[in-house]
Amino acid sequence: MIMKSSVPVVALIALVVSSVQAFVSVGGSGNTHVTITGHAVMAKIHEVCEVVAESEGREFNPMGSSPEELLRACLGTATGEVSGAKFRTALNQIYMQNGFVDRDFMSSAPHHFNNEAFTEGRNLIIQGIAAIKANVRTDNLQSARETLGRVCHTLQDFYSHSNWVELRNRSPYANLIRPDLNIENIADVAMPTCSDCASGTCPNQLLPDILNGKFLTSGYMGLFSPNKPKGKCSHGGETDLSSNQNPRGGISKDERHSYNADLHNKAVNLASEATLELLEDIRGAIGNKDYLRLMGIARSAVLAFVIDTTGSMADDIAEAKRVAFNIIDSKKGTQDEPSEYILVPFNDPDFGPLIRTTDPDVMKLEISKLKAAGGDDIPEMCLSGLQLALTGAPSSSYIYVFTDAPPKDTYLENIITALIRSTKSTVSFFMTTSRRKRRALNARSDFQVYYDMALASGGQAIEVSKSSISQATDIIVDTSTSALVTILQRSRDPGRVESFSFLLDESVTNTTIYITGSSLTFNLRSPTGVSQSNTVANGPLGTIQTVGNLQRIQLNETEMGLWFIEMTTSRPYTIKVIGQSAITFIYNFVEEFKGPHPGYAVIDGRPSAGSPAKLLLTLTGEKGPEALEVHEVALVEVSGVKVSNGTVEKMAGGDFLVTVKDVPEGEFVILLKGKDKTFSSLFQRQTTTMMSQSKVTVKAKADSSMLPGQEFKLNFTVTTNGSSGAYTIRARNDKNIPMTHPSTLSLVSGGSAQGTVSLTPPADTVSGTDVTLTIEAEGPGGSDSNYAVLRLSVLSKVTDLTPPKCEIVDVQGTCYSSSCSSSKWELSVNITDNNGTGIESISIQQGSGNLTQKEVEDCVMGLYEASCCSTSVTLSAVDKVGNVGRCSYTMKSSADSRLISMSLPLWASLLLYGFLCYSFTL
Ligand SMILES: *[C@@H]1O[C@H](CO)[C@@H](O)[C@H](O)[C@H]1NC(C)=O
Ligand SMILES: *[C@@H]1O[C@H](CO)[C@@H](O)[C@H](O)[C@H]1NC(C)=O
Ligand SMILES: *[C@@H]1O[C@H](CO)[C@@H](O)[C@H](O)[C@H]1NC(C)=O
Ligand SMILES: *[C@@H]1O[C@H](CO)[C@@H](O)[C@H](O)[C@H]1NC(C)=O
Ligand SMILES: *[C@@H]1O[C@H](CO)[C@@H](O)[C@H](O)[C@H]1NC(C)=O
Ligand SMILES: *[C@@H]1O[C@H](CO)[C@@H](O)[C@H](O)[C@H]1NC(C)=O
Ligand SMILES: *[C@@H]1O[C@H](CO)[C@@H](O)[C@H](O)[C@H]1NC(C)=O
Repeated sequence: MIMKSSVPVVALIALVVSSVQAFVSVGGSGNTHVTITGHAVMAKIHEVCEVVAESEGREFNPMGSSPEELLRACLGTATGEVSGAKFRTALNQIYMQNGFVDRDFMSSAPHHFNNEAFTEGRNLIIQGIAAIKANVRTDNLQSARETLGRVCHTLQDFYSHSNWVELRNRSPYANLIRPDLNIENIADVAMPTCSDCASGTCPNQLLPDILNGKFLTSGYMGLFSPNKPKGKCSHGGETDLSSNQNPRGGISKDERHSYNADLHNKAVNLASEATLELLEDIRGAIGNKDYLRLMGIARSAVLAFVIDTTGSMADDIAEAKRVAFNIIDSKKGTQDEPSEYILVPFNDPDFGPLIRTTDPDVMKLEISKLKAAGGDDIPEMCLSGLQLALTGAPSSSYIYVFTDAPPKDTYLENIITALIRSTKSTVSFFMTTSRRKRRALNARSDFQVYYDMALASGGQAIEVSKSSISQATDIIVDTSTSALVTILQRSRDPGRVESFSFLLDESVTNTTIYITGSSLTFNLRSPTGVSQSNTVANGPLGTIQTVGNLQRIQLNETEMGLWFIEMTTSRPYTIKVIGQSAITFIYNFVEEFKGPHPGYAVIDGRPSAGSPAKLLLTLTGEKGPEALEVHEVALVEVSGVKVSNGTVEKMAGGDFLVTVKDVPEGEFVILLKGKDKTFSSLFQRQTTTMMSQSKVTVKAKADSSMLPGQEFKLNFTVTTNGSSGAYTIRARNDKNIPMTHPSTLSLVSGGSAQGTVSLTPPADTVSGTDVTLTIEAEGPGGSDSNYAVLRLSVLSKVTDLTPPKCEIVDVQGTCYSSSCSSSKWELSVNITDNNGTGIESISIQQGSGNLTQKEVEDCVMGLYEASCCSTSVTLSAVDKVGNVGRCSYTMKSSADSRLISMSLPLWASLLLYGFLCYSFTL
């Protein structure tokens, strides 16, 4: 009675086939690994959103086909702006890893299923899937996404680089994602597999013995040497030196040519289907809700606090609590409700732990537990706490630090700056001056490090008295919204007489201007020429609130057009203009790489000085990027006046490649100007994370995960075009895992040197723990530095390979299509995981009925009850390591009440009702 479920055939796949170069990585004009992954990802999100909407009893009707419209429909919000930025960021975290596989593992056969490395390639997939499931369990979504991107690449390459398609297989090879099954019938190393192809363009070179015997083989890739075992197929192509050795030619189906078009198309389709099956497996293991979070379908706002809990902080803690409660209570059920809460306390010498939750009540509870005590007269571990928040919060979060003392752990300063650049999160500081601590300190110079970090991240450094902190925290409410954009940010030190202009467009609402600095005078002017000076608290343009060194100006209404702020002061100041709008962009600095599959890969450190800066931008708006135009992209100095225009090249899917030749020397941000075609309205957006170029590069690649209790070695390479000498190496991880690394590396200008970091995670580390490792190299005299940030996972060795077994034991009820709402049906299942780690959870993957369960010895008995209006169900049972077993059943409705009632014997009714159960024991 066991049948295989049919793979949902997705219409989108048809689009993929039109590609020319399907298996190249990011970039290029045709379809790529990214489009194959992208179509599968979007199709699966669509499917899951629909199921979730059905189970919540609401409509699911995306207005169009863009990711933004899918997001909006999936979140099911009627009101409020929805920003696609977080969703696009999550998707990019998946897609960008494709580039890494072609760059960092270019010559690794298993990553591409070259050289008949089937067992090793499959192991990468199986380990990757286990890591993804473990990471989701510990809520480390970014790591899970990155691993998913890499696993998809390898999985897809199987169809292009092996002879699976030539063997006339019509469906994906399930064993690649099934830990309990091995790859079978691999051609022996001594077995010849291909015939010679002098032209290099033969439709099918595989030997008849291979085809008849159904032997699995793949092409050999000779990047550095033409040698390959005798008689073996080559990958083929210009970069493959082995393709000139007999048997010449190649069997790669990466690109479509006239001689292989059919094979290429089939490979693309199978790669797409296989990707869908992989996604389905992950979804089954983590459930619909976490699956959507993994895919970036979540409300945008995240509330992240880092709070000093030393003795003098009682008032500040009370205020942080008040603000958090206010946001949680007032935004509940709206689009602005935070999707995630982060809390990190710090004291002296303790800090942490990081509390990360999606449950507002947990956040309320945790923040209520904070008590001010101890460590009163000495500075605290602020940067250590901030490090945890930066690595634990999703990228581009707004993080608020409450403290009344300078940091003691200033040795973390460079690491924090690196993490800010890498995560693009914005950090603001509320510094309340306590008279007792102030005695020994002299104000700004001690807090300078906070000012520097706020500026580097685009946040604010706000100094207020403890008694007036409650007036300053409105800024947190302003940023707890779903579609926050920055329109302008500049800093001047010293200040000077200067006029700043900024463009407000049709889509912007709730515009707020922050100016920090003391004794400032300024004048605000609207596009129609109305003015308001800083001395007028309630004027024609807005209300100005002043507290400590912060002035917050809320515009009464957002008049479209060019606004001006005229500053007349010589004191240092920063200006920031924010608003709410769905139109925004995300970006990554990238580098081009060559090889068999050239493309662009994200740079995680600072871009290299001396060469043009390249950026990949993704534009997002309410109706998707197609409704937007880019006019101008420039790198702008935040503290200077230099503006460097870039040349903009349109790529697929709303992406743009920007090349800037004359990069500013100082710290810069990105300014984008464009047009919203819907309203014909010009807009301007700016990034907030400051960046600059460096002559030093630090490169490291994380391949496998770490094992608890075992030493893990990671090589890194430092290269410099700057001065020769001893480069200081600093490495830190956010989980305090014991670690060794060289303290210096000796470099000559134009050269490079390699070092190794060894980490030994304690034996009791929870599987799925995510470790952020930052490696920094600083040139002689501290002149120049760069860093690499890596996310590594600790993963226990998985020994339970068998999924739970789900068996349908009974079906009751009769459904009539004429009156579905008045009748019910029920399904009984027995679920066991006899030889495994045990059942972790059982959930309804599809269907809007109710499930009750009862444990009887080693067996979980489940009863699913549903209305006859919902006739299909899929139950998924997950064991403790994420193996998934499923039961599916579809109740047939009878038009006519004379048909079968359930008094028939079970086997007969199952036959008649179209029994479909597959519990992964196919
Ligand atoms: C935005 O402005 C509208 C109208 O002025 C107001 O109702 C709303 O509360 C504001 N939202 C925020 C987050 O300030
Ligand atoms: C803006 O608000 C202030 C204070 O509420 C008010 O005095 C002023 O008339 C308003 N201006 C406009 C144009 O609505
Ligand atoms: C940058 O481009 C804009 C628009 O094309 C132009 O107005 C501006 O003069 C350019 N700036 C420089 C420095 O080339
Ligand atoms: C790291 O470098 C050492 C020395 O060059 C080399 O022997 C080792 O294989 C490298 N390890 C990895 C994982 O690349
Ligand atoms: C289902 O499990 C229960 C409890 O272990 C057992 O009594 C029953 O016989 C099982 N049914 C089937 C069909 O295996
Ligand atoms: C459990 O493992 C044993 C020994 O490996 C095997 O014989 C048995 O069939 C397994 N049972 C199940 C339910 O998988
Ligand atoms: C499911 O449970 C809810 C709440 O207990 C109940 O209102 C509903 O009728 C149940 N549905 C079915 C099909 O039993």
